[in-house]
Amino acid sequence: MKGLILSGGKGTRLYPITFNRAKQLVPVANKPVLFRVIEAIKEAGIDEIGIVIGDTGAEIREAVGSGKRWDVDITYIPQEAPLGLAHAVKISQQFLGDERFVMFLGDNVIQGGISNLIRQFASSNWNSQVVLTAVDQPQHYGVAELDEQGRIKQLVEKPRNPTSNLALVGIYMFDPNVFAAVHAIKPSWRNELEITDAIQWLVENGYAVHPYIHRGWWIDTGKPIDMLEANNRVLAELVHRVDGFVDQDSKIDHLVTVERGAEIINSVIRGPAIIGEDARILNSYVGPFTSIFHHTTVEESEIEHSIVLDHSRIVGVPSRIADSIIGRDVEITYSPIKPKAYKMTLGDHSKVGLL
Ligand code: DAU
Repeated sequence: MKGLILSGGKGTRLYPITFNRAKQLVPVANKPVLFRVIEAIKEAGIDEIGIVIGDTGAEIREAVGSGKRWDVDITYIPQEAPLGLAHAVKISQQFLGDERFVMFLGDNVIQGGISNLIRQFASSNWNSQVVLTAVDQPQHYGVAELDEQGRIKQLVEKPRNPTSNLALVGIYMFDPNVFAAVHAIKPSWRNELEITDAIQWLVENGYAVHPYIHRGWWIDTGKPIDMLEANNRVLAELVHRVDGFVDQDSKIDHLVTVERGAEIINSVIRGPAIIGEDARILNSYVGPFTSIFHHTTVEESEIEHSIVLDHSRIVGVPSRIADSIIGRDVEITYSPIKPKAYKMTLGDHSKVGLL
């Protein structure tokens, strides 16, 4: 089997974090979501992977490279515009050839990996296997309606009035019959070739599409709140380790990872949390569900339930920071200079919540 990862698209819902960066490269528990996807596919025994890329392709190529780091072969497949998930399959036909494949959306995080799913599909006669999970707001997803025997009756992309709460998770398995489907369907109201319509075409034309119901957690990291939720889930399940330096005046619990070169001085860190490479935490408090990425400084400040990206500085902030996503090279500092006021230089699409 081969793997196909979709990493095109624009990520506008994660602005400003993704204003000039691929949303699939935003780290969750200090590892880009896309790297987690590659690892899940490799773990399932697949080492030939195609990555569909768009406007942010150069950055993705630079971060992932040839795939050597994971012992996989990566082929990049440029997509001229985000014309839909089925369009991405269409342009990947040459790479996929006549092999069965798993398609994984590059911004999805799923509990427990996909090894079992792949094994199940590889040893079956099914033409496709889709992963479904119960969600609270099905109208935001592709939705599946099953019949009494648990077979797929109908699939609809983002229906206004959903007929079930089962959403399509961003993991799909296909055999080459999917190419007939992606060539047969027409663009949707949002002008995309929908993979949901292609699977519906397979069902209507008598192909065997097996629905697998996923019971663990799954997160589509489309919005900032989802990013924090994914961070919480992954941090809670991480096997923690301390490779950096923790001085005698600091207190960290067993759910804290301190990466290589990081320094914790006179600080308290409550897990689950991760402190990235060469980061420095000085006279500070880092609370649960926080990921501080590489080369970031937190000094005389308190922060919890947040993600901070690389090379940022949080120094002398008088009140606790929480529920925040802070980008790269950001500075949040105490300013004694009069007038006593919030002084901000914020980029386009920034969001600030003040007390
Ligand atoms: O997350 C699950 C949902 O993903 C499913 O329930 C829906 O049925 C499915 O259509 C999809 O919906 P989204 O609207 O959330 O997809 P999004 O546009 O966010 O794209 C998902 C990923 O695929 C993202 O990493 C960008 C990439 N992509 C997207 C498009 C439209 C491409 O590489 N090329 C594309 O043309």
